[in-house]
Amino acid sequence: MFNSQSTIVKVYRTLDELSHAAAEEFVRCAKEAIAQWGRFAVALSGGNTPRTLYELLERDYAATIDWRRAHFFWGDERYVPHTDPQSNFRLAKETMLDALHIPVENIHPMPTHFSDPDEAAHEYEAELRFFFSGRPGFDLMLQGIGTDGHTASLFPGNSALREKKAWVVAVHADMQPPVRLSLTLPVINAARNIFFIAAGEEKRHVIEAMLDHSEDEQQRYPVARVRTNGKVFFFLDEEARGGKR
Ligand code: 6PG
Repeated sequence: MFNSQSTIVKVYRTLDELSHAAAEEFVRCAKEAIAQWGRFAVALSGGNTPRTLYELLERDYAATIDWRRAHFFWGDERYVPHTDPQSNFRLAKETMLDALHIPVENIHPMPTHFSDPDEAAHEYEAELRFFFSGRPGFDLMLQGIGTDGHTASLFPGNSALREKKAWVVAVHADMQPPVRLSLTLPVINAARNIFFIAAGEEKRHVIEAMLDHSEDEQQRYPVARVRTNGKVFFFLDEEARGGKR
């Protein structure tokens, strides 16, 4: 599936170089969306890899976008307070959103204050449905890839992978922190642009499966379930891709 012509694979020597390339494309997506819709809706990913991209957007690209027209959502979130060091919201806030002075009404964090994460998922889904008038359509989704092939918080074998109706689900994972919120595949697959950002030798087996192996072999990894009619980019370092390509 990913070895099709709609997928653009870019390989760089370092995380810093791949992050610069991703930042350039991020700006392209934002400008196209703002020109077409008057606003840019992006879903951010968490984990460690996107930190460099967020820092670059704030440091080197601050003047390239009318940030007042950018709306920030999250593809997934750890079910911890937003002040927790593990919070994906905190990562983006500290590395990018505060410094870019994004209007508070344009920042849409996944709620993690409800005692019941299912209630939080329903709350976020209501916010998304209102924002998108009932049809999901992110202009850009940033997606990380785990060493088990998960993306967002859609983990191998988890029932969230089979969700066809809900836009947001609470997920109980076998990793820390165990409770998360995640957008589902129907929402991810409705995005116009999806960036997979991966670095490090520990991701290579997943990347090679996605780009070099048959569709059957890809299916063991949740990331293979991403099937958008939009553009898919892989921003990789040489370690994750297994050398120059
Ligand atoms: C999260 C992420 C998750 C992440 C991958 C890769 O909340 O952890 O959204 O999907 O993108 O686990 O994480 P690294 O970038 O830290 O390798």
